[in-house]
Amino acid sequence: MPTIRVGRVADIQDGGKIVVETEGEQIGVFRIGNEFFAWKNKCPHQGGPVCQGRIYNKVLEVLDADLKSRGRDFDDSTTHIVCPWHGLEFDIRTGEFAGASAVKIMNLEGYSTQVQDGDVYVVV
Ligand code: FES
Repeated sequence: MPTIRVGRVADIQDGGKIVVETEGEQIGVFRIGNEFFAWKNKCPHQGGPVCQGRIYNKVLEVLDADLKSRGRDFDDSTTHIVCPWHGLEFDIRTGEFAGASAVKIMNLEGYSTQVQDGDVYVVV
């Protein structure tokens, strides 16, 4: 399978991303710690540039014993990308649509990544 070199590991900051183009296809490459995740830059909702959205940790609603809201918190173990067109959120690690992970047609289309000698590659 062909691979494309995205750049050096240090070119993508932890919690950040870059968007590359190959053969007319845009691919967003995200870094979380020392892991890299690559997704097609095309939102399954209406085709927006999902990989160019903001990155947030999953928002949690904190409820008390009476199920009243006590504000919001963030889940440090789950990071989302938010599509800039209509705000749908996707898990950066899995590509799953955060609103309903069982709805597979709404998940991002992904590519595998490799790191060799300090360079990041995407297998297309
Ligand atoms: S195109 Fe991405 S949320 Fe609508």
